[in-house]
Amino acid sequence: MAPLRTIGRSLLAALLLAQVEGKPVATSFSAAVNAASLPVPIAPTAVIPTPLEGSCRYHPGGGTCPEHAPCCLNGYCSDDPRYCSTGCEPKNSWKESSCFPQAYCSNIHEDFGQPRIASSKTFNGNPYQFDFTTDYNTEGVNVQDSKLKISMKLDRIPNSYGRPQGLGSVVSTTRFIQYGKVKARIKTGSNSPGVVSAFIIRNEDPGDEIDFEVVGRDPTEAQTNFYYRTPPDMATDLIDYSNTGKQSLSTNTALDFHDYEIEWMPEYILWKVDDKVIRHVFRNETKDDVGIDPATGQTRKRYPSSPARIQFGIWDGGQGSEGTAAWAGTPTDWSKLDQHYEIQVDYVDIQCYYLGNETQTWPPAGHGPTKIHDGPYFTPGLDNRHGHDVGNSFYNEQENGVHPYVPFYRNPKLMIPIGCLMGLALVVVGTIEVVRRRRVSKVRWS
Ligand SMILES: *[C@@H]1O[C@H](CO)[C@@H](O)[C@H](O)[C@H]1NC(C)=O
Ligand SMILES: *[C@@H]1O[C@H](CO)[C@@H](O)[C@H](O)[C@H]1NC(C)=O
Repeated sequence: MAPLRTIGRSLLAALLLAQVEGKPVATSFSAAVNAASLPVPIAPTAVIPTPLEGSCRYHPGGGTCPEHAPCCLNGYCSDDPRYCSTGCEPKNSWKESSCFPQAYCSNIHEDFGQPRIASSKTFNGNPYQFDFTTDYNTEGVNVQDSKLKISMKLDRIPNSYGRPQGLGSVVSTTRFIQYGKVKARIKTGSNSPGVVSAFIIRNEDPGDEIDFEVVGRDPTEAQTNFYYRTPPDMATDLIDYSNTGKQSLSTNTALDFHDYEIEWMPEYILWKVDDKVIRHVFRNETKDDVGIDPATGQTRKRYPSSPARIQFGIWDGGQGSEGTAAWAGTPTDWSKLDQHYEIQVDYVDIQCYYLGNETQTWPPAGHGPTKIHDGPYFTPGLDNRHGHDVGNSFYNEQENGVHPYVPFYRNPKLMIPIGCLMGLALVVVGTIEVVRRRRVSKVRWS
């Protein structure tokens, strides 16, 4: 859900990783991405303010967002459609329906001839206009020769461990899939220790994830994993790292393209490489969760079942915390300054289990800002999402351009006219005063 939660979760993951340092741990994609470079000794409560329901955190005066800036994201109110999109907090927005609904899956075969990719800067929430977004580091994403190329190069700033680290990128679908088949032809970028290539299906709320990962320590091995409701806020001990699978492919995945497929069904998950099943998991054999699943009337299982987005990414696991580095391989080779690593996707084929759920107009009636304009907006909330304030070198995209609701007296654009008016007023008052004093003195002297 809220990007805040991502940051929260990753911090917790960082703390968790600190506890297991030295042991090779497989980690959740986002958690590890962030854990790799996040500072450890921060009290989570100081950094992860749990958003109070009914209050958009930085909204002046508190409360939910006002009608003219209806969507709450990361604690800021805005009429920027991006605020009403992924991460929008319904309970803290003007109305719950101010947030756009999740866009449901549609079948696509994307061969990256002319993909519709928006950057996180330009995405307006409209899934009819864009199929993908680039997250975090837009410059790392290119389309060339009908291939999606997601790259990582050395970051300008060392990470919080004082080590040079790669700045990775992620591309996500704009729509959410809930069960279905996703097949992608991929050449991994994992040709140095530490370089992690990922093809995953995940959501931030409630925190389910199914993934394929290749780590640079051994690019001939496919790692598979799934997570169920990884807690976004607290309780790191609830993150279950025990579902990892490993399969040797006897071929270097960084040299050639191979087909990777996740078949995610209500009752099972299959992971396939080049059409061969390398792993299966049955829902009925996963651990029990507490409570009864209203859909089946049976005990709830710790099995991913919520709508999620499909993501491709690359990141540097070799230079961060010891646990992640041991898992991914270390050190990542950054000996050449212009060194870069790249995961390439030749195509992705998405077949949804649920169809017929697509909203036909966007935004759907009654959702989002009442008036969609062309900006400019200003979005410090989104900037924070890119983490300058968390010292995370993975997210250091310079975002700019855009606007949340700020009260008029804090609007920098109004400062100059207001300053001029005040100056003018001073001059007028001063002049009147001078004239008055002269009169007074004339009266006295006369
Ligand atoms: C789970 O379901 C599969 C078929 O969907 C079946 O083959 C398997 O035996 C079941 N396992 C258990 C523990 O019931
Ligand atoms: C829409 O999606 C929901 C959840 O994914 C599903 O339960 C429902 O059956 C779908 N509706 C249609 C008409 O496909």
